[in-house]
Amino acid sequence: MARPALTAGNRRAGLAGAGTGAPPPVTDSGRRLDRADVQGLVGSGYGRLPEAVFLGLQVDDGAAGRRLLADLLPLVTSMAGDRADSALNVAVSHPGLGRLGMPQAALAGFSLEFAGGMAAPTRSAFLGDVGEQAPATWAWGGPHHPRVDLLLLLYARSAEELTAHRDSIRQRFPADGVREVVALPTTPVSPRDHLGFADGISQPAVTGLHGRSERGVALGEFLLGYPNAYGRRTGRPLLPAADDPGRVLPPAPRADAPDSVDLGRDGSYLVVRTLAVDVDAFWSHVHRWAARTGLPPEQVAAKMVGRWPDGTSLTVSRDHPLGDEPVDNDFRYHRDGDAAGLGCPIAAHVRRANPRDSLDPRPGSDASVRVNDRHRLIRRGRQYGPPPGTSDGTGPDGERGLHFLCLNANLSRQFEFVQHTWMDNPAFAGLHGSPDPIAGHHPPDGGGVFPLPADPVRHRLLDLPRFLRLRGGGYFFLPGVRALHHLASHPAHQSSVRDGKDRP
Ligand code: HEM
Repeated sequence: MARPALTAGNRRAGLAGAGTGAPPPVTDSGRRLDRADVQGLVGSGYGRLPEAVFLGLQVDDGAAGRRLLADLLPLVTSMAGDRADSALNVAVSHPGLGRLGMPQAALAGFSLEFAGGMAAPTRSAFLGDVGEQAPATWAWGGPHHPRVDLLLLLYARSAEELTAHRDSIRQRFPADGVREVVALPTTPVSPRDHLGFADGISQPAVTGLHGRSERGVALGEFLLGYPNAYGRRTGRPLLPAADDPGRVLPPAPRADAPDSVDLGRDGSYLVVRTLAVDVDAFWSHVHRWAARTGLPPEQVAAKMVGRWPDGTSLTVSRDHPLGDEPVDNDFRYHRDGDAAGLGCPIAAHVRRANPRDSLDPRPGSDASVRVNDRHRLIRRGRQYGPPPGTSDGTGPDGERGLHFLCLNANLSRQFEFVQHTWMDNPAFAGLHGSPDPIAGHHPPDGGGVFPLPADPVRHRLLDLPRFLRLRGGGYFFLPGVRALHHLASHPAHQSSVRDGKDRP
C-alpha cells in the first residue's frame, strides 16, 4: 500500500488538537519505564475505585473518532496519574485502529491473534469457544453485534461519582460518527467474588514496573518495547520516523529498525471475556460431592479453586484457612512439599492457571519457575451482576459473573496458552478427562472428572459440569499514552479502511 501523503505541518496541527495533555517531544531512547506513558490499568486494578463501567464504542467516521480521542486524552489516567476520585483508560480493537486511520503497515505490525480478533473462527476453535459458548451466542462482541472499536474503562469512588464521570465522558461523544454500542456495568469491588472466594490475590511481580528493586517476570511480558522472558522485544508496530514529525512516539531501538518510532511501546494487549457464573449449580454440585466424600463443602470448593475462600493457599495450609493472617503468595508447589497435590490438587484452578515450579525441566527448581514465567497474566477483572442472595433475579439478564480482563504482551504465548493448554486441557500434567473445574471447557456430552488426591485413597469427583457461560469478549490493545496521542492526532492515512471490509 502506498505510503500516506503527510506533511509535518498537518501532523503538528493534529497534535496541537490533542489537548493540553500533549506529551513533550521525545529526546532520548532510554529504556527506563516512563510511568506517565503507561495507562494506569497496567500498574493497578484501581481497587481504590470500587465502581466501574466499560463502554464499547463503534467508530463510523475516523475523523470523529480521532476528535473524541483527542478530547478524552486529558482524562486518561497513567501509572503516574494522581487523580484520586476517578480514572479513565482507553483500549482499541484492531478494526478500531483501522477506523482511526492507521496505515496498513502499522496494522500489520500487531499480532495475528489481535488482528483476527477473539471471535474469529480460528481463535474460537483454539479457545474452545464453540457450541453454547460460540461467538454467535454472545451478548456482545459476536458476529451479530455491532463492532467494538474503542473500549473506555471508567472507574470511580462511588456510584454517584461514576455516573457523573460517565455522563461527562458521554457528553464528549460526537453527534455523528461514533456511537456507544455496549455498556458493561460492574458490581462494586468487594472482598469476595460471587462464588465466595477472595480474588485478585496473586499477580506477577514484574521487574521494574513498580520500583527498581522489584525482581520478577520480565517487563516485556506485559509491555511492548522491553525485553521479554526470552530477552527479546516482542513484535510490535514500528513506523518510519518520518510518520511522526512531532516526535510524539518513542524511537525504536536501532537494532530493531533504524529511523523508526515505536507505536507499540508501553502498550499491552487487553483480553476481555464476560463469563456468566452459575453460582447455584456450583454450590449444589459441591454439596453433592461433599456428601459423597465426607469432606465439608467449603473444603471441596476450596480444592476446586486451590485456595480457601479467604485466599489461604491449600499448599500453605491443607486443613484449614488461616483467617486473619496475611495471605502468603510466596509459595511453590514442589519446593513446599505439595508435589502430589495432597494440599492443592493438581487439577485445581489456581494450580493450572499458574503452576509455579511444577513444570519441566526440573519441577521444584528455579529453571521450572522461569519456564512458567513465560505464561503469566496480569488480571484486572471486575464482577458484574447482583451478589448471590441479594437479588430477586431481576438484575440485568438475571445474570452474574466476571468481566475477566487480563493484560499480556503476547496473546498466543500467554492468555491463549493458559486457556487452551492449561485450563481446557483434559490431560494437563498427566490427568485424564480433567479440565479446569472453574474456567475450563468441558465436553458437551458429559462432565469432566476432578481428581482429588487424598491419603490413603484419592477421590474422583465425577460429572463435573461447566459452571461458566461465555457471554462476550474481544481482544484490545491498551496503547501507551504517547501512542494514544499519535492515534488522536494523525490525519487519516487511507480511505480504503473506512470503506473497507469490516463489519458495519
Ligand atoms: C468466572 C471465572 C473465574 C473465576 C470465578 C476465577 C476465580 C479465581 C480465584 C478465586 C482465584 C484465586 C485468587 C487469586 O489468586 O487471585 C483465581 C486465580 C487465578 N485465575 Fe481465575 N477465575 C476465573 C477465570 C479465570 C480465567 C478465564 C483465567 C485465565 C484464562 C484465570 C486465571 C487465573 C490466574 C492466572 C490466577 C492466579 C493463580 C496464581 O497465580 O496462583 N481465571 N481465579
